[in-house]
This record gives sequence, structure tokens and C-alpha cells, in this order.
Amino acid sequence: MSEKKGTFYITTPIYYPSARLHIGHAYCTVMADTVARYKRAQGYDVMFLTGTDEHGQKIEETARAQGVTPKEYVDDIVKGIRKLWDLMNISNDKFIRTTDDYHKKAIQIIFRRLFDRGDIYKGMYEGWYCTPCESFWTKSQLKDGKCPDCGREVALQQEEAYFFRLSKYADRLMELLDGDTGFLEPASRRHEMINNFLKPGLEDLCVSRTSFTWGIPVEFDPGHVVYVWVDALSNYITAQGAFSQDDSDFQKYWPADIHLVGKEIVRFHTIVWPAMLMALELPLPQKVLGHGWLTSNGQKMSKSMGNVIDPEFLCDRYGVDAIRYFLLREITFGQDGDFNGKSLVSRINSDLANDLGNLVSRTAAMVQKYFGGALPVERESGEVDGDLIELANGTKAKVEAALEQLNFSVALSELFRLCSRANKYIDETMPWVLARDQAQKPRLATVMYNLCECIRIIGILITPFMPSAGGQIKNIFDEKNGSPDIFEWDSAAVFGTLPKDMGIGKPKILFPRLDIDKELEALAAAMPAGDAVPPEKPKPQPKPQIEYDDFAKLELVAARVLECEKIKKSKKLLRLIVDDGRERRQIVSGIAQWYTPEQMIGKSVIIAANLKPVKLCGVESNGMILCSESDPDTVKVIFHGAEPGAVIR
Ligand code: MSP
Repeated sequence: MSEKKGTFYITTPIYYPSARLHIGHAYCTVMADTVARYKRAQGYDVMFLTGTDEHGQKIEETARAQGVTPKEYVDDIVKGIRKLWDLMNISNDKFIRTTDDYHKKAIQIIFRRLFDRGDIYKGMYEGWYCTPCESFWTKSQLKDGKCPDCGREVALQQEEAYFFRLSKYADRLMELLDGDTGFLEPASRRHEMINNFLKPGLEDLCVSRTSFTWGIPVEFDPGHVVYVWVDALSNYITAQGAFSQDDSDFQKYWPADIHLVGKEIVRFHTIVWPAMLMALELPLPQKVLGHGWLTSNGQKMSKSMGNVIDPEFLCDRYGVDAIRYFLLREITFGQDGDFNGKSLVSRINSDLANDLGNLVSRTAAMVQKYFGGALPVERESGEVDGDLIELANGTKAKVEAALEQLNFSVALSELFRLCSRANKYIDETMPWVLARDQAQKPRLATVMYNLCECIRIIGILITPFMPSAGGQIKNIFDEKNGSPDIFEWDSAAVFGTLPKDMGIGKPKILFPRLDIDKELEALAAAMPAGDAVPPEKPKPQPKPQIEYDDFAKLELVAARVLECEKIKKSKKLLRLIVDDGRERRQIVSGIAQWYTPEQMIGKSVIIAANLKPVKLCGVESNGMILCSESDPDTVKVIFHGAEPGAVIR
């Protein structure tokens, strides 16, 4: 067993049940889950919390528009969120809903306590409110008169309200964020908080609303509901029983080790939340980590842009592990990262199917073929083994070092370095050659043993990132012959742990290879159409002006497509025979991605007729078909109704 360590408390933000969650939301939860699994494997007593943030004006309005009560509305959506986390193998220990009774009671106590201590007082509020973000802004904070977070319209609102004395904590917050406390990372976010919020001066925060009712009532002034961020942030302590009869989990786990949050809500977690805790005289969380956003095909994910990707669809089609792997491997922590079909498919094919999948299935197949599925006893080491063993023994430490910094991408690349090295070891040792010579049997046995050891180590270390794949890898080892200790986290640094007569199961395909074109089509079809106008594309640079004589040199004529077929060796090219009014000519055109041969036959096109012939994929092309290209991914042939031979000018 791994040595027993202390407690470790990690949280995700609690999600708004305002719409279906997209793959960007899943990114944060998958990261937190990976850390939680890793810490459990190390022997920590882990508390991993996630949940839903269910109050606020926006939810009240959405529910009204749908003709249901806010509670009915959130109940339905929260069910879907929980189902999604189950599907994605999220191992949270608790799930808090801010509509849970114990939470509501605790919030009322917190509010009263802050009021009794003079940290909350009653006043008049006038401010610019952004409904989707549930945020009030001062005039100077607005960006071009709009919400600085989401860019949407804000409305001037005035009401009697309670205020939290945020300004009182400005100095302590500055010490916390400017000092060497490690409270907020990455450093860029710290500078942002200091320069954009602390230095300009903190104003007291409006913490109650009277213009809607879907919230937790202020117990001593029921016309007011508690501001959703006070309600939401407190979840991190109320979920553990703070301000309830049984606060044993709170005593055990608080302060949290990590609050993992997206960059746009760092402000609430590193200014409002610590100030609230200071006012309540409670310890502060150890660390807030602000991660970047996942974009979709280079743009911010949003329903109105029509680029939101449904995590359920992705998990059904590619498997949960492939999606978890992609999110953790492709995005550098703290920075934005892009989710696009091409990178997803290439990660699955090259890393998962080729490197990892092949290593496991090739090795298992060889142990079956050469030794009937049992790791042999007789062994003899060879010169290339030392290098492999050293790398395998050192991988755990490298993965851990990266994971401690939440550098998931680096951690995985260290792990896959071992996969590649083991695959190379197969090429170097050539087991199929050793197998031909009876005298080489001990050497062949060593090679198989070393490969199985690498796979065992990979199986252990990969489990926090990809729990199912980790399980499948471990399953190829016949547990009857080995003690469960061979899969303990710490044994990943001890090469030579596998017992010598261990049984190895039949090979399985862990990750099938994918066809990129087919997948891109499926992914495009899975994105719901948006209603927003896409951002303007950069205009192409104008070309230098030319004389008419230069233009007149180009012969553009109308032609009719008589025959058309795909060029076998190419995915992009079509071979066309066209009638240009004088003769039949052959043209090769790179439009196979957008047009089938059937769509081209019989059509009138414009050709550049006097271009010198070129060979494309070994096929001669006499001229070019004119197309419009709004971007490299959208090409349209210019069709028209003119007779073949008509001159175009
Ligand atoms: N309810 C608040 C959080 C309260 S925590 C006390 C909230 N909810 S949210 O549903 O809008 O967002 C939850 C998390 O998802 C945030 O950390 C946010 O940054 C993250 N993401 C939302 N879209 C995202 C991407 N496209 N990419 C990465 N993370 C994204 O904010």
C-alpha cells in the first residue's frame, strides 16, 4: 500500500445549470479529477468537490420563459450534469447544489454573522448589472459601455441593498496577492488582479438583491436575496458542513488545497472569497489556480456561435479516455487551447492508437505467441536494456513533478516518452528474429519481461488521466499470479516488480485508428448551428495593379464538364474532361473535398485555358477551373449558364 498521507481538498467551480454543459466546462472537471485520482493513488485522503450554482436572476428568467418553476428547471438540468460527470468518469466525493437545504441554512448564518460583525451594512446601490454574468460593474470597469467579462449589454440598476466591506480588506488582499504566498497562479493572473482591481481601489460589494426572488432570502430581511456569488463561493465550506451541526468534514478538510477555476472567475476567488473568509476569521485556501479557456476551431465556445461541442457526443464516439487525454495533453495549463477535429483525430491516431495501443497489443501478442501467455522465468539481460530501465524507473518522478504544477501536458508527454522508447526497444531487439533461434530464448524472455514492466508502469501512471485505459492495461496481467501491490502507485518506480511467471492475457485493441475525413464530417455535423454573425475575417492583402495587356494575356473561357472521376492516389484531386468549345481537354482540380464527380458532370464552369500544362499526382492538367475561396476550408466552383467556348472577360 502507498504510505498514508494527509488530507487533500480540491474543488471545481460549481456550474450554472443554465444550459447544457459543453466540452469547455468538462475541461476543468477533468483536470480536477486527474489531480484527485493522482493524490488518492499517492495515499492522500482526498475530498474532491463539484456541484451546481443554481440561484440568480438569469435562471429565474429562463425558467419563467419555459413555463416551469426555477426549481423544476434546475432539477432537470442538474440531472444531466451529474450524468455527464458519471459518463466522464469523474470521481467527485461530494456534489453540492446551492438549492440544498443545508447550504441555504449555512448561507443565512454566514450572512447574519457578517452583518453582526459590521462587515455587512445596508445602503443604496446604483450600478451597471450584467445579467448573464450576475455581476455589478462600476462605470469605470465597463469596456466600451459593455460588460468587461462577456462584452454584453449592461443595465443601470438602483436599489436598497446590503454591502460587504470589501474595501476594508484591500491591504490584506494586496499582501496575499503581491507577496510570496503562492496563493494565485499563474503569475500573469496575479498581476491582472493587482493592476486591474486592487491598485485602482476596491469598492464595497453589493451582496443582496431585491429585484428578483430566486435566491437565498436574507433571513432577517426577507425581501432581499443573497447575491449569487456570496451564495456560490461559500459552497466550498458549506459542502463540508461549515455552520451546520456536523462540521467534522469541514474541520478535517478545510482549508482547501486547490480551487481550480477558469480565468474569468479568478477575480471572485482571489478577491471576494478571501475577503469573506477573512471577515469570517476562517483560514484561506492554499491555492487558486486559474486555467485558460478552451476555444472551438479558434473561437470562443458559445451557443450563439454554433461552435459548442457536446461532451456526450464526443465521449460516445471516441471514448471517454480519448477525450480526457486530448484535453489534458493538448492544452498547456493556464493558457487557452483549441478544440478542433484535426488535432483530436491526430492525437488519437498517433499517440493512443500507434504509440500506446500498439505497444500493449504487440507485446501481449508476442508473449502469447512465443511463451503461451506466461512471462518466462529464464532471463538474460542485454545492452539496450539499461537505457529503457532507467527511463522507466524515472518516469514516475517526472510525471509527479509535472502533476504537482498541474502541467498535465508535460506529465503525459513524459509518460508517452516511455511508450515511444518501449516501441523503439522492440525495433532494436527484434523479438521475431530472436524467436527463430532456440539459444536466444532467455534473451527473448528478457525482452518480453522488460516490455511488460514498461506496460505495467504506464498502466499505473496513466490511470489518473485515463482511468478506463489504465484498468484495461492492468487487466492484461493475470492477477491470480501477482499480488495487487504490483499496481500500487509507488511500485511504478520499481522496475522488476512483476513476478516472473505472470500470465499475460490476449491482446486487445485499446484505441482503434480513425479516418480523419470521416471524423471531420461527423464533428461538423454534431455542432448545432448558431445564430451569431461570425467575426469578420481579415481581408486579403490587395495584389499590385497590372496593365490591361497583362490581364488580356489570360484566356478565360466557358466549358462544360463531360467526364469526372476521383484520382485514386489523392484525397483532394478530381480529373475532369471538359468541352471548351474547341476541343476536349483534361483538367485536374483540387476540389474533391467539396464536390463529388456526379456533382460536376454536365456543369458549366470557367477555365483558365492558356496556362502551361502541369502534372498533378502524375496526371496532366491543361488549365484550371475557377473557384471562389472565402477561406481555405470553403471552396466553391463558379458555375454559370454560358455555352462552351464563350469568352469570359
Ligand atoms: N457558477 C460560476 C462559478 C461559481 S464558483 C463558486 C460559473 N459557472 S459556469 O458554469 O459559467 O462556469 C464554470 C466553469 O467553467 C468556470 O471555471 C469557467 O471558466 C469554465 N468554463 C466555461 N467555458 C469554458 C471554456 N470554453 N473553456 C474552459 N473553461 C470554461 O462561472
